[in-house]
Amino acid sequence: MRLVLLGCPGAGKGTQAKFITEKYKIPQISTGDTLRAAVNAGTPLGLQVKKTMDEGRLVSDDIMIQLVKDRLQQPDCQNGFLLDGYPRTLPQANSLIDNHIDLDYVIQIKVPDEELIKRLSGRRTHPASGRVYHVLFNPPKIDGKDDITGEPLIQRIDDSEDTIKNRLAIYHKQTEPLVNYYKEQSDQAHMPHYIEIDGTGAMSDVTEKIFSALDQKSIF
Ligand code: AP5
Repeated sequence: MRLVLLGCPGAGKGTQAKFITEKYKIPQISTGDTLRAAVNAGTPLGLQVKKTMDEGRLVSDDIMIQLVKDRLQQPDCQNGFLLDGYPRTLPQANSLIDNHIDLDYVIQIKVPDEELIKRLSGRRTHPASGRVYHVLFNPPKIDGKDDITGEPLIQRIDDSEDTIKNRLAIYHKQTEPLVNYYKEQSDQAHMPHYIEIDGTGAMSDVTEKIFSALDQKSIF
């Protein structure tokens, strides 16, 4: 299964990706997590993208297209993958086609902006694993600590209120056109099946809606 999760910052892509990849036994390719790991490790890529990410702007298409092309050539992607946070622009979507990477599904998780601001401002993450919590909606067992390792949780720099608003504006301008792109071409030759999911409500209910939509259409 080769699928893409599309949705605003905070829509729950990372949260749902964990459940989907576990069920279908495919790797999660989160471009945000990959870039943050590079920033934390101080690699040349990390140094190059840090300011852009901190300000909530998009990293250049050239960098992102090469990064994902290299990642998808790894052996663990042979039987499928989940792309979380990619593509985010039309050139990125077109690069998948140019590189003959056919997708099976694009799932858009829809959540209103007011709810997204609440979700992102209360989010806490465990940087080493990418595990995600929320101070109210999905709190860790011990305040401020990762459930598995007990290590401290952090608040992402781009989860400050001003940067959240900037990220949402950028999503609506640069990434939302992809929704129509995939909707209009759904099921055409070499194009994925487009699925829209209401991302409000309990996390487990959203997971059920995704699984049920995939089961109905499933070719696996
Ligand atoms: P990235 O890390 O991809 O950030 P994002 O798209 O802004 O998405 P988020 O990780 O913020 O949200 P999410 O949808 O995964 O939500 P989550 O599950 O955590 O990208 C970061 C940056 O990297 C970009 O700004 C850009 O600079 C760069 N970048 C990455 N990819 C790029 C690309 N392709 N091109 C260019 N630049 C790129 O959930 C959010 C919170 O809500 C959590 O606290 C969670 O616990 C909670 N929550 C989840 N579901 C629910 C629910 N149903 N009810 C209540 N709370 C919920």
